[in-house]
Amino acid sequence: MNSPQIKNYISPESAGTDLTALELKIKLRRDHLPGKEVINVLDVFHGTGKIWNFITDVELKEKGRKIKVLGIDKRSITGVIQLKGDNVKYLMKMDLSKFDVLDADAYGSPVKILSTVFKNGSFKGVVFFTHIQTLFGALPKEMLEGLGYTQKMTNKIPSLFNSNGFEKFKNWLSVFGIDSVSYYKLEGTMKFYGVFKIKK
Ligand SMILES: C[S@@+](CC[C@H](N)C(=O)[O-])C[C@H]1O[C@@H](n2cnc3c(N)ncnc32)[C@H](O)[C@@H]1O
Repeated sequence: MNSPQIKNYISPESAGTDLTALELKIKLRRDHLPGKEVINVLDVFHGTGKIWNFITDVELKEKGRKIKVLGIDKRSITGVIQLKGDNVKYLMKMDLSKFDVLDADAYGSPVKILSTVFKNGSFKGVVFFTHIQTLFGALPKEMLEGLGYTQKMTNKIPSLFNSNGFEKFKNWLSVFGIDSVSYYKLEGTMKFYGVFKIKK
C-alpha cells in the first residue's frame, strides 16, 4: 500500500498541560479556520453546540467574521435548533459542497462518519475530528479492513490489531489521500483532537 507520510505539525505538548478538553478543541478550531469572511460549518455531532457557539461569538466580536453552523444530533435537545437523526444517514445523501468546515467531535472513533464523507465525495475543506480509544477498545472493522487486515487475522489475535489506534487511524486517512494531520493529545488520556484538509 502506498501511504504518504503523515506530518504532525503540533506536538502534543505544545498546547500546554493546563488546557481543558474544551479549550483544546476551541484552540485547534480557531487556529485552523479557513481564511474567509463567512464560514459555513457542518457540525455532525452537535450536542448543545458548546464549541461552535463560543467560536461564533468570539470570531464575530474579535474579527468581524461570520460563522454559520448547521448541527446534526441524534438527540433532540431543548432550545437547540439542528437536524435530528443519525449523522451517517444524513451525510450519505447531503450535498456537502456548500460547507467549508466539517466537524466530527465524536465520542469514540470518527471512522464511520469520515468514511461516509469520503464516499459522499462532495465535501472539500477543513475537517476537525475527535478520536478516542479506550485502553482495550476494539478498533472499527472498517478501518482495519481498509488497512489490509482481514477479518481472519483480526479475529485470531484481536489485542494485536487493536493496539495503536490513533497511528492506524492516521494511516487509514492516508488511504484517502490525506497526507497531513495536525493534532493535540489530551495529557494522560487516549483522546486526540485533530484537523486535516480534504483538497479540491
Ligand atoms: C461529544 S458530544 C458533542 C459535543 C459538541 N461538539 C458540543 O460542542 O457541545 C457528541 C454528540 O454526538 C451525538 N451523537 C452520537 N452519535 C451520533 C450519531 N450517529 N448521529 C448523530 N449524533 C450523534 C450525541 O448525542 C452527542 O450529543
